[in-house]
Amino acid sequence: MRILLTGAAGFIGSYVARALLEKGYEVIGLDNLNAYYDVRLKFYRLNTLLTQKGFHFFPIDISDWVSLAALFKRIGPLDAVINLAARAGVRASLEEPLLYHHTNATGSLHLLELMRHYQVPRYVLASTSSLYAGTPLPFTEEQPVNTPISPYAASKKAAEVMAYTYHKHYGIHVSVLRYFTVYGPAGRPDMSIFRFIEWVYRGQAVEIYGDGRQSRDFTFVEDVAQATVAALRLEGYAILNIGGGRAPTSLLEVVEFIERFLNKKAKLHFLPPQGADLVHTQADISRAQTLLGWHPQVDFYDGLARTLNWHLSNRALLDNLTL
Ligand code: UGA
Repeated sequence: MRILLTGAAGFIGSYVARALLEKGYEVIGLDNLNAYYDVRLKFYRLNTLLTQKGFHFFPIDISDWVSLAALFKRIGPLDAVINLAARAGVRASLEEPLLYHHTNATGSLHLLELMRHYQVPRYVLASTSSLYAGTPLPFTEEQPVNTPISPYAASKKAAEVMAYTYHKHYGIHVSVLRYFTVYGPAGRPDMSIFRFIEWVYRGQAVEIYGDGRQSRDFTFVEDVAQATVAALRLEGYAILNIGGGRAPTSLLEVVEFIERFLNKKAKLHFLPPQGADLVHTQADISRAQTLLGWHPQVDFYDGLARTLNWHLSNRALLDNLTL
C-alpha cells in the first residue's frame, strides 16, 4: 500500500507513520513544519522517520493548492490519504480563526479534490472530541454535533461534512476519527500533559485554566495510531470515536500523579476557565470496537509513566524548549 500521510512531523502523524512502516507500507509524508509550537520537536520526530526504508518526506502545506497539486501529479497512484495535518489548538483557534479554517477546512478540501482527480479510493480524516460541546456524556457518534464552541471544532466539522460529499459523489471510502485528547512521548507542548510534566520538572508554575476538576478521556498515542491504521480497511462513510474508553481523568489527578512520579511538589497557578474548552469528555468507543476490532491497550497511568520517562530521558531537547 502507498499512503499519503499529512502532518507526518506532528505528534499523532509520526506515530501513524511508524505504524504504517511496520506493516511494510510506503509512506509519503507531508508537513509544513509551521511554528505554532517549537519546531525542534517536529524535527526530533521527523529525524526518527527519515532513516526508515519506505518513508519519503515533502515539506508541503495542504493549504497550498499549487504545491499540493504538483505533488499529486509527481508521486503517482496512491491507495489512501490519511489527513493528520491541522491547526489543532482548541484555545488558539479563537485568536486565528481564518488560519484554522484555511488549513483544516480548505486544506482538507484540496486533498479531496485531488483524490477525486487521481482516483484515490480511501480517506482517513483526523477529527476531534471537541465537536461534542454541549452534548451529553458519554459522547456517541449518533449525537448531532452542531454547536461547536471553538473555530477549531467548527473547521473540523466542515472537513467532516465535505468528506461526506466526496464519499457520496465519488465513492471515496471515508473514515472520520474523532480523537480524544491524545497524549504520549514527544507530545504537543501546547497541551496539558506535556506542559504539566515540564512545569513540575522545571519547578515552574503549573497554569491551570479553571479549578482543575475538568476531565478528559485521555488516549495514548500508540492506541490512536493502531486505530488509524485499522481504519484504512473500512468501506463507506464512518465516524468513529477513538478515546480511552474509561472514566475520564481530571487535571488535578494528572498533576498528582506527576508529582508522585517526579517526587516534586507542583506550584499550582489557577487562571480563569477558557471559553473554547469542554469541561468533561468521555468517549463511547463501542463503534470503533465493532468496526475495527480495536480497543485501547494502554492503561492511562501506564501511558503517563511512559510519557514521564520520555521527558526524563530527553532533557537536552526539553530543557530549553518553549512551552
Ligand atoms: C486536545 C487537542 O489539543 C486537540 O487538538 C484535540 O482535537 C482535542 O484534544 C480532542 O480531544 O479532540 P484539549 O482537550 O483542549 O484538546 O487538550 P489539552 O490541551 O490537554 O487541555 C485539556 C484541559 O487542560 C483543558 O481544560 C485545558 O483548558 C487545560 N489546560 C491546558 C490547562 O489548564 N493548562 C494548560 O496549560 C493547558
